[in-house]
Amino acid sequence: MTDTVPRIPRRSALRLIGGAITVAAVPSLAHARSGPAPRVEALLARLTLDEKISLLHGATDPRPLGQAGYVPGVERLGIPPLRLADGPAGVRVTRHATALPAPVLLASTFDPGLARRYGRVIGREGRALGQDVLLSPMVNLIRTPYAGRNFETFSEDPLLSAHLVAAETEGIQSEGLIATVKHFALNNQERDRTSIDVRVDERTLHETELRGFEAAVAAGTGAVMGAYNKVNGTFACENEALLTGVLRERWGFTGFVMSDWSAVHSTREALPAGLDMEMPDGTHYGTALRTAVRDGGVPEAYVDRAVRRVLAVMDRFGLLDGTAPHRPEPDAAAGAAVAREVAEAGATLLRNAHGTLPLTDGGSVAVIGPTGARPLVSGGGSAHVVPEHADSPLDTIRSRAARVTYALGEDAFGKPLPAGALAPALDSEAHHVEAGRTWTYDGTLTVTEAEEWTLVLHYSGPHPLRPKVLLDGEELFPLVPGWSEYFTGGLLTHAADGLSVRRRTMKPASGTHRLSITAQGGEAGQLFRLRRITAATRAEDVTEAVRAARAARDVVLFAYEDAIEGQDRTTLALPGNQERLIDAVTAANPRTTVVLNTSSATSMPWLERTGAVLQMYYPGQEGAAATAAVLFGDRDPGGRLTQSFPAGDDRHPVAGDPRRYPGVDGTQEYTEGIHVGHRWYDAEQVRPLFPFGHGLSYTSFAYEDPEALWTADGLDVAFTLRNTGGRDGVDVPQVYAGPSPDVPLDQPVRVLAGYRRLTLRTGEERRVTVRVEPRTLSSWDPDVHDWVLGTGTRTLWIGASSRDLRLRLDARVGG
Ligand code: BGC
Repeated sequence: MTDTVPRIPRRSALRLIGGAITVAAVPSLAHARSGPAPRVEALLARLTLDEKISLLHGATDPRPLGQAGYVPGVERLGIPPLRLADGPAGVRVTRHATALPAPVLLASTFDPGLARRYGRVIGREGRALGQDVLLSPMVNLIRTPYAGRNFETFSEDPLLSAHLVAAETEGIQSEGLIATVKHFALNNQERDRTSIDVRVDERTLHETELRGFEAAVAAGTGAVMGAYNKVNGTFACENEALLTGVLRERWGFTGFVMSDWSAVHSTREALPAGLDMEMPDGTHYGTALRTAVRDGGVPEAYVDRAVRRVLAVMDRFGLLDGTAPHRPEPDAAAGAAVAREVAEAGATLLRNAHGTLPLTDGGSVAVIGPTGARPLVSGGGSAHVVPEHADSPLDTIRSRAARVTYALGEDAFGKPLPAGALAPALDSEAHHVEAGRTWTYDGTLTVTEAEEWTLVLHYSGPHPLRPKVLLDGEELFPLVPGWSEYFTGGLLTHAADGLSVRRRTMKPASGTHRLSITAQGGEAGQLFRLRRITAATRAEDVTEAVRAARAARDVVLFAYEDAIEGQDRTTLALPGNQERLIDAVTAANPRTTVVLNTSSATSMPWLERTGAVLQMYYPGQEGAAATAAVLFGDRDPGGRLTQSFPAGDDRHPVAGDPRRYPGVDGTQEYTEGIHVGHRWYDAEQVRPLFPFGHGLSYTSFAYEDPEALWTADGLDVAFTLRNTGGRDGVDVPQVYAGPSPDVPLDQPVRVLAGYRRLTLRTGEERRVTVRVEPRTLSSWDPDVHDWVLGTGTRTLWIGASSRDLRLRLDARVGG
């Protein structure tokens, strides 16, 4: 068997420095031209300063397709405009597109081949939908379980992230769409993302976060997006050490760097530092740049350098000479097939007790939970895609089981206010204000029992026209400046009929409260309703769920957590009343499978009471079919965790140290150093709830006869894998490597060194070889600012997760 995990193109040469073997970065020429491209240079010579500057910043698209960015072309010279669309899980424009599973679910497949195909779907659709540049993939490491965009990225592990980003980038660009790896670098949290100063040492930077970016560059990414945050005191978008030192000089990047949206702070700093393009407008790279060039503050040579880089990428993709392939028609069926395959392949079975899964056809099933009926397709923010379609898991399960009941169990949208609560009486369920009109209500709300109330406002108008609701003079749903007003997606921001939703939880005293509402019809009229969730309505929902659970043989309880760009979570617990719901339902019926539609790690105090737990993240538009295929055993759950799931909020790498997370006085320190993710759990001997790499199959596997051989290309680790169970199934054996005795640096207890995803028939046996790259066995030596190969005898483990290590052997590295 040969290794099918793609090797990251090697641009490193082994060399000897002072007796130690180091791996030196050699600038890649693979994607560079030999010398300046004549077409680009000829254009540059003819462009006026204003035209050059217009190519370096975003502008308003005269024919907008709903994409995030636009750069006008220069028509007189045949330079076409660029349209730039998000994002990581599909093409985000106004039109429908394939909503692929969240990247974290793709990563869970441990299958770079699938990542390439996922990229190809987006690449083709992006071009079909009029786009030239894709604002994806995102490869920032999962450093904290709270980070709001953990669903949009791949993993806590640098090696796995690097393999996936390289393969996806190749896939996107093979269809003629320019990929943008983002957010360079260290945008590992949403909290304070536009201002936080990340302090990190050189070694940590290279051994953790940068590896994925380097892999994307080696795979030929046309563009890089700079991050919002600061890195060691300087904003990432004006950080010369990163944008020029690392990206250009060390890695040989020849594409262009754009800012994240409104992430530029200074014309005079950013352009010389190596930021080529400002997005989405010309705040700093428009008139301000022209003035800076004219007054000598920014030499025009920097403008030329940036324009050259933009044009060079356009040239490489055939956009300057008309050789770009014709824009294809969208192929929704092909997109759907890949979306489904990825969702099935990434489905991660965390627990399966007493043979709870797979379910048998024709049984009786109670489906519980809001995302059981209304599919949670994708996370919120710039990664949200308007799906081609999305079936309900409930309908899919109905087509398989003989008897299916449904109970909501957890209500996020509220129940109508009780009759008589409002005086004068008001139909709070659906109130319509006509266009141009203003409607007001002044009355009272009577609360009979002092308990927690969540008032839920549903409204159709644009956010600035959100109805004003005042309780005892306090405005309950004020406009909050920030991302959350703009980003949609996920489950919670919109009701099933599309109305925007805002919630406010409070504890009003029993008695009568003054309530006033002012709603404006605006241009299109406004529909709104006011609802509530109380302890009593919650209890009713749980009671109904328990009733359904008791009456069925099996229960499938869909639990959710709704992440959105721009904000972090504050707890690992499931939101709302879901923990109590799971407690009650599992007490009523232990054959309960909890399906998690969550963004990242979740704490599970209820775990032992469940029959099974299936992690599906945000499974995309084909999520319902994929979930059912795994629940009913048509597919073996072949996904594995790409991040450690902590046992609780106090037991993970950034717990209990605000300097690590979320930062103190605007600064945070990555003091866990190279011990990111599973490496931290090993270094600190902390037991995770579920370790990195964990995921169960419906069959079982044995690992035998390991051997390892150092070759000129790295370490070949071989072993025999046997399917010892009664079903065909998928396994993802993983190779971990211990420290080198020859490197006098603090090294991880174990690093992920390689892995394979394999499907074996029952009883089948296969000899498997995993190639471990020299880079994976190297450390960054801060004294020589370079990689040093970790030679000597190193321990290797082969296992089913970072904590299920089945075989151990020693191998010599470096001959
Ligand atoms: C996000 C980027 C995204 C951009 C354009 C920003 O807020 O951080 O990832 O590509 O918006 O939508």
